Amino acid sequence: MGQNRQMPKEEGLDHSLKLLKEGYQFIINRRHTMQSNVFETRLLGDKAICLSGSEAAKIFYDNDKFKREGAAPKPVQKTLFGEGGVQGLDGEAHKHRKAMFMSLMSKDDLQEIRRLTKKYWELAATEWEAQKEIVLYEEVKKILTRVACEWTGIPLDENEVAHRAEQLSDMFETPADVSLSHFKGWRARSKAEDWIEELVKEVRNNEREVAKSRALHAFSWHKDHNGELLDENIVAVELLNLLRPIVAISVYIAFTALAVHEYPEKAKSLKGGDSVQLQWFSQEVRRYYPFFPFTAAKVKESFTWNGYEFEKDTLTLLDLYGTNHHPDDWENPDRFEPERFSEWDKSPFDFIPQGGGEFDIGHRCAGEWITIDVMKESLDYLVNHLSYTLPEQDLSFSLTEIPTVPQSKVKLTNVERII
Ligand code: HEM
Repeated sequence: MGQNRQMPKEEGLDHSLKLLKEGYQFIINRRHTMQSNVFETRLLGDKAICLSGSEAAKIFYDNDKFKREGAAPKPVQKTLFGEGGVQGLDGEAHKHRKAMFMSLMSKDDLQEIRRLTKKYWELAATEWEAQKEIVLYEEVKKILTRVACEWTGIPLDENEVAHRAEQLSDMFETPADVSLSHFKGWRARSKAEDWIEELVKEVRNNEREVAKSRALHAFSWHKDHNGELLDENIVAVELLNLLRPIVAISVYIAFTALAVHEYPEKAKSLKGGDSVQLQWFSQEVRRYYPFFPFTAAKVKESFTWNGYEFEKDTLTLLDLYGTNHHPDDWENPDRFEPERFSEWDKSPFDFIPQGGGEFDIGHRCAGEWITIDVMKESLDYLVNHLSYTLPEQDLSFSLTEIPTVPQSKVKLTNVERII
C-alpha cells in the first residue's frame, strides 16, 4: 500500500464563478497549472474534486466508489435533467430504469430513427430551396423535433413545430446560466412537463392510442423495480430525457457543418456515403468539438486512490471535454483527424463526449448510438444530397459559453437538393 499524499489544491473560498467564466477550460487550466489529473477546488461553497483522463475516468465509473444521488446542482435539475429522472438514481433503481431506456435502442429502433432523420431533412431541404438564406442550427432543431416526436409516439401538429423546438432547446441551451435565460429554461421545462404529462394520462385512461413500439407507450406502462407504475410526472421527465437530447444533437450537426467547411480535404472521403467514413468523421466531431464539459457524482464511501483520499460525499467532476483532448490518451489531440478512429481501441474511458463506462450498470448516455446514427445520416445528407454556399459570417465558437455553437449558427445560401 502506498503512502497517502496531499491532493493538489486550489486555494480560495469558492470558484463557482470562475467555472462559469472559464467554461470548458476550467478543469484543463488547473490540470495544466497543477500538473495533475486529480485536484481539489471549492464549488458551490464546498470542497470538490476534479478528475481528468482515462485512468481517472475508470475510477469515476466504479459504482462502489461513486453515486449520483444529490450530485447534480438544483439549477441543472430544474432545466436540463428534471427531477426524479434516471440521471440521479443509483443501484437497482438505476439499473431497472436504465433498462427501460436501453430497450428502445434495438437495431429496428435505430433504423427507424435513421429513416425519420432522412425523411425530415428531405422535407426541410425542399423548403430551403425557396429561401434566400437559412440558419442551419435553428432549422435542424425543427427537423429533430419532428424526428423526436414521431420516434417516441408524441403527437405534433404542423403549427406546433417551431414552438416545441424552442421549448425543448431552451432546456439545454440555458442550464449553466444563472441569469434571466435560466428562468426561461426553467419555465420551458415546467410547461413541457405539463404537455407530456397530459399525454401520459390520456394513454393510461385509454383515451389515446399509441403503437406499442413507441416510447410514449413503453414508458407510460413501465413498472419500476418494485412492480409499480411510475408517477406520471416521472414518465414525463423520462420522455423529455428522450425528446430534449434528440433535439440537442443539432449542436453536433452545426459543428458537423463547420467541420465539413473547415476541413474540406477530410470531407472529400465522405463523397459516396461510405458508412465507415461517415462514422469516423462523426466520431471526430464528437471528440473534437465541445458539448458537455463534465459530469458529476459524489463519493459513495471514503476511499484512497493513488495515495489521494476521497472523502465520502465529496462532489467530484469528471472532465469530459478535457479527457477527449487529453495528451495522455490522444496523439495530436487538438487536430481534427477522423482517420484516428481507424486505430481507436474502443476503450470506454478515453472517448467520453457522452460519458464513459458501461451503458447498463453505469450512467453512460443512453442515446449515444442514436446520436451517432442521426449525425451520420445528417452528414450524408449535407455532403451528398445538398449543395449550398456559406456566406461571409462569424463561424468562431466560444470555449467559455456552455453549451457553445458557432456564433452565426451556420448560415447557408443557395441551398439546392442534389437529386
Ligand atoms: C446531443 C448529444 C448528446 C450528448 C452530448 C449527451 C451527453 C450525455 C452525458 C454527458 C450524459 C451523462 C453521462 C454521465 O453522467 O456519466 C448523458 C446521459 C444520458 N443521456 Fe445523453 N447525450 C446526448 C444525446 C442523447 C440522446 C439522443 C438521448 C436519448 C435519446 C440521451 C439520453 C440520455 C440519458 C437517458 C442519460 C442518463 C443516463 C443515466 O443516467 O444512466 N442522450 N448524456
